[in-house]
Amino acid sequence: MAGRILPSPSAGEGGPRTILLRPGADLTGFRDAARRLAASGARPEAVTWSVESAPGLFGSDGAPDADRPLSLPRAVVDLIPQVVPHRDPERYSLLYTLIWRSLHGERHLMEVASDPVVHRLSRMAKAIRRDLHKMHAFLRFHRVEDAAGERFVAWFEPDHHILEAAAPFFVRRFAGMRWTILTPEGRAVWDGTALTYGPPGSRSDVPEGDGFEAGWQTYYETTFNPARVNPKAMRAEMPKKYWRNMPETAAIPALLRGAADRTAQMIEREPTVPARREPARAVAAMADQDPNSLDELNAIIRKTEPLVPGATQAVLGEGPLGATLAFVGEQPGDQEDLKGRPFVGPAGQLLSRAMAEAGIDREASYLTNAVKHFKFTLRGKRRIHEKPTAGEVSHYRWWLDRELDFVAPKLVVALGATAVLALTGKSIPITRARGPFRFDRRDNRFQGFITVHPSYLLRLPDEAKEEAYAAFLDDLKRIAALGAELAA
Ligand code: URA
Repeated sequence: MAGRILPSPSAGEGGPRTILLRPGADLTGFRDAARRLAASGARPEAVTWSVESAPGLFGSDGAPDADRPLSLPRAVVDLIPQVVPHRDPERYSLLYTLIWRSLHGERHLMEVASDPVVHRLSRMAKAIRRDLHKMHAFLRFHRVEDAAGERFVAWFEPDHHILEAAAPFFVRRFAGMRWTILTPEGRAVWDGTALTYGPPGSRSDVPEGDGFEAGWQTYYETTFNPARVNPKAMRAEMPKKYWRNMPETAAIPALLRGAADRTAQMIEREPTVPARREPARAVAAMADQDPNSLDELNAIIRKTEPLVPGATQAVLGEGPLGATLAFVGEQPGDQEDLKGRPFVGPAGQLLSRAMAEAGIDREASYLTNAVKHFKFTLRGKRRIHEKPTAGEVSHYRWWLDRELDFVAPKLVVALGATAVLALTGKSIPITRARGPFRFDRRDNRFQGFITVHPSYLLRLPDEAKEEAYAAFLDDLKRIAALGAELAA
């Protein structure tokens, strides 16, 4: 749906305009209007952003520049869909101000975290990420029968307009089920092949009890760890408003009442929860958690505080289970931390390019890091990557081991010394060990390959880059051949 631009009668080229967008998160309408406004030189202060009370009434005004893409910095392009679902009525005007300034002499504006516009928009994006996380984690389906058979229905009340942003996650997760998610603003319907959106529903459209509920409840009771109970943090993480939709939370009051006794019993049974800076104990505590799948492991990682505070979020591994090749890096960088995905910053882009040149399909490979949180020091407004210590690497090692167990790749590629340390427990110079390598710390389980980290190539002086890149490419070609051999 394209936004409609209403020029005021007195408007010249830069005169006042009103943009009408549909209610909720009108990403297409906003993008389209922003493109046309910027192309026609409309300054942010001349634009009023307004939301139509009735959706779907209008189309594009046919302005000639509607489809011409703007040359915006990647960080701005990425931020737009993260902010549009926010409830704040000023979101569109702030986004357009950001776009305008980025196009007019402030190309690196997004790096100025203290700028009031950047700051507010970043906070909005963070609120959306949190709302999405809650919807992904706390939505519960209930089974119903209709003429076509089994169907699942869920009710959820997000804080922001996130239904369309959240729904693809459920398609991936529950692709084989037919389901409907109802919210006060609209519904998402998956029929097993297509995702569609429709009118709002109400809580009473969802049945009260079904066979799923006992299962959720047992799961919650058995995974509940009384030693970690912090009712305040628990309420902040899982606000009470969601409890009504979650069968397992019926158990929370009783579990909280019993927590003190159960904690005392646990203390007698085993050492206390490890201190943050004692990697060996932290690893032991992790091992206690015993996840049964990569999803369960990832849920644990996602919820765990960074060892060194500061990171926006945990950056999880990405790629298919059973991938032939798994690449292990050091830790997420600045871009990875903001986007929540591994290898999407400059080093990741270089890696992608080299993988493509070597004939390795990045999408079919598994990419992860030894350490799951970004560690940095602030230099002015910039977050400068800081190498993890051996203790920190050791703290995260159990996660990596379990992760690779679940992914079960044929060949594990260590990118750089930190990955080697995480995979072998030893500091081995890359120059000595570069090439095929047996990671025998864990029952000779993984055939490995050691090569340099792509960020090493980025740091080299220009005259040395070409040769180093060629050597890296050679390694990747050997990795591709070895992977193909092992997968055969
Ligand atoms: N460097 C890494 O080691 N991992 C990333 O995800 C990005 C940069």
